[in-house]
Formats: sequence, structure tokens, C-alpha cells
Amino acid sequence: MYRVELPRLGTFDAWRNHARTLALGGARAEEVEWTLEGEAPGLFGGAAPPTPRPDAVLNVPKSFPDLARQVCASREPGVFFLLYRLLLRLSSEPRLLSNRADADVQRAEEIAKNIRRDMHKMKAFVRFRKVPGENTGRRQFLSWFEPDHRIEELVAGFFSRRFSDMDWAIVTPEVTTTLRNGVLEQRAIPSAPLSLEDETEELWRTYYANIFNPARLKTKAMQAEMPKKYWKNLPEAALIPGLIADAENRMRQIQESAPTLPPLRAERILHRLPEASAESTPPADSLNALTAQMKGCSLCPLYENATQVVPGAGPEDATLMIVGEQPGDKEDLAGRPFIGPAGQAFDAVAREVGLNRQATYVTNAVKHFKFQPRGKRRIHQSPNTSEVNHCRWWLDREIAQVKPKLLIALGATAALALTGNGKNITRRRGTVEQGTAGIPVFITVHPAFLLRQASDASRDAETARFREDLRTVAAMVSALEADTATSITADGPGQ
Ligand code: URA
Repeated sequence: MYRVELPRLGTFDAWRNHARTLALGGARAEEVEWTLEGEAPGLFGGAAPPTPRPDAVLNVPKSFPDLARQVCASREPGVFFLLYRLLLRLSSEPRLLSNRADADVQRAEEIAKNIRRDMHKMKAFVRFRKVPGENTGRRQFLSWFEPDHRIEELVAGFFSRRFSDMDWAIVTPEVTTTLRNGVLEQRAIPSAPLSLEDETEELWRTYYANIFNPARLKTKAMQAEMPKKYWKNLPEAALIPGLIADAENRMRQIQESAPTLPPLRAERILHRLPEASAESTPPADSLNALTAQMKGCSLCPLYENATQVVPGAGPEDATLMIVGEQPGDKEDLAGRPFIGPAGQAFDAVAREVGLNRQATYVTNAVKHFKFQPRGKRRIHQSPNTSEVNHCRWWLDREIAQVKPKLLIALGATAALALTGNGKNITRRRGTVEQGTAGIPVFITVHPAFLLRQASDASRDAETARFREDLRTVAAMVSALEADTATSITADGPGQ
């Protein structure tokens, strides 16, 4: 019997190294006892690892390491054994992983799916609390989370990319992950639950209480999306039982109460921008819940000077999502995207090619207006990469909620947010790329680019090119909506 003890961190790499040595030495799956650091070893001592046979070779398909990395994070019993058996079988059955009927493959896929679900929950439900820290010039945040599986290593990259310009620690019962001055570090440290409160807690609670719609109370669905075990980490969750209990009462009050007047300031803004008042209030639904959460956003400093967050707008089941850069001056005041000059330029061209904006979901890569005050004017400033990366937290959630079949990136910032690359827009415009969300992204220029042209001639020429781009998009949308056999690939619309 060979015994292998795997570390709590670097588990997959260690498993891979041991598995390679054992497999090349001819160890059968039943001859290896796999344990994880801290677990009780078996009764019998382990033999020295076998010497690799000189003629032995080990080939695995490209997809195996990714699958194995996820499976290694599972707390299910026997996962290391299962992976090792798969590894051995792959030598004689190279196409094994495509056989979905195979019991080992099925089990590994099911485990990997649970791991991905756990990762998704962690990404969605980690809440950072601001902590008073050393005077480093970087804000400091702390978070407590209890994942079902050993996924801390798998999600570390996500958090370090998203929250790269602040210092933070995510503490779980077994691992502490920190980012300090851009350096990511993980340590296997046993920790008891942290109890944290900061002023953001109250904000989250206020928003949650405001967005909670008793008329749409679906307790089961709520618990499926936000299972009870995560509630203790979520400031807003403390309100849920009370809100549910009070739902009937509130429904009655809503029915009985007369419509309330909007605040004076909102009224003034609406008066100044008549188009902003043209649409009725959207119904409360889960996009609305997202919007309300967005309003409490302080992930980057842009919220400090902007009037308000400007969420996306449009139908929740839109085929097309249009992504701009960030709200401008008018959008910042009205709280709605693309209602100012750039939006009007877009609308005019969209109308010409029969693209119905009302049927699309329109949003921005960055949700707060970034500007520099100059006298009474607020001069637009482009958001930087870190601001775009922070705001992808919200953009990704809008995409996940709307599930568009096609995205348009208007300009470099949107292209950066949707594809990870904001360069060479002139070269890339008019093409479709695979976005980071797995949805095709049509790249084009920002409509403000048309307005910035120095002469009428160049404005006309650029408008004509933009029109051609939107015409292509309109055709793609029609094809998608007609549900024809049209396929959209990274190379462009199919035939
Ligand atoms: N420019 C954008 O990118 N978005 C808006 O909402 C307005 C102007």
C-alpha cells in the first residue's frame, strides 16, 4: 500500500505530482491510500513510492487537468481515488472523458458541477466589510465566508482581479486569503467565524428593505438562490424573516395607500429632462433587486462624487445588450443611461437601421459618472482599468440576469469590460469576439466618437460606418430572434 498525504493548499498540484509518479511506477488505484493533511491515516504504514518504469508514458486529454483541479477541491469522500482511477484508465481509453455514460466520468462531472456552483455562491455572497487599517493609502476590507468545499484556491484569482486596488482578507474556517499591495497570499489557518459590522451593513439593509416587494414573495425561489446557510454573512439577510412575516401586512398598506410624490430634486431633474419621465417605473423584479443593491455600491471611489448610480435599463429578456462606457452628465442627473447627446446620436442611427432600442437592454461598463469639476461644468473623464474591473461585478450580474444572446461594446471601455481587451478598437470594429461571459460581443465605436469629429465630412463618414455596424447588429438580432439556424461565432455572423 502506498500512502499519500496531500496538503490543504496546493492540493491539486501535489495530487498531480504524486499521481504521476505512482502511475509511471505502475501503482494500481486500489494500492494507493490518499489522505488530506490533518486527516487520520490508515492503520498500515505506507510503502516507498514505486520507481517509474523507463518505458512508461502518461498521456491525458487537455480537459483532464481542469476537471481534476475542480474535483480535488471537493469534500466528497474518495475524490483523489476516483481521479487516480480515471488517470490510469485514460492511458488505455484516451476518449474516456467524452463517454458521459461511464460511471467514473459521470461522478467526476457531477462533483465538478457542485464545485462550480459553490464557487459561484462564494463569488456572489462574499461581503467585504471596511476595517480601519494602517494608513497605507489603500482601503482595507475583511470578509468571512464558509464554502461547502475547499474552493478557496479556485476563487482567489477572481477576487484578486476584481478587488485589485484595495487590501482585503477573505477568511474561511480553514484558509485565509489576503491581498496586500497587490500581493495575493493564502495560508491554511483554522479560524472561528468573524462577526463584522460596518456602516455599509446598514446601507445594504436599507436597500434590501426598500427593494423587497411583498407582492412578489416567493420564499422557495429566494431560498434556492440565496440558501439559508449564507444568510449569516449577508447584512440584508437579517431582515428576511421579518419582511416575510410582514409581507401580508405591507401588501395591504400598498393597496390602500395613495401614490406618493417623488422627492423634489428628482422632480426638478425630470422636469429638466423630459425624456427621463417618459417611461413608467419598471416593475419590481430581480433586475430591480440588483439595481437596488447597485445603489449601495462603494466598490471604487467613483460613487463619492456622482449624483447617483446609473443602472442599465430595458427588458429583462432582451436579446441584445448594449454596453457603453459610463453615464454622462445628463445620465448622472436622471439616473438613466444614454439619454444625453451620445444616447441621442445612437438612437438616431439605430432608428435608421430598424434597431428598436426599447427592445434592448442598455447599460454601461461603469455605473457612476467620473468627471472633473471645471467651474459649473463637469468634464467627463474616462474610467481607468481598475474602475472598470470593479464595476464588472455589476455588469456580470446584469448579463447573468438578462442572458442576452448578443452584446455590443460601444468603444474601448466597454470592449475592455466585455472582452478583457480595450485596445485597437479601430481595427476590431465590425467584428464579433467571444466575450468573457461566454456571449458573442460585437465591437464598434462609441457614439460620442461621432460627435467629436472635427468636420461635417468626417462626422458624416463616421456616422455612415457606425450605421453599417448597427445594420449588421440589427440583422444578427433579427436572426437570433427568429431562432433561425444562424450561428454566431467569434468570426462573425454565420450564414
Ligand atoms: N455615454 C455612455 O457611454 N453611456 C451613457 O449612458 C451616456 C453616455
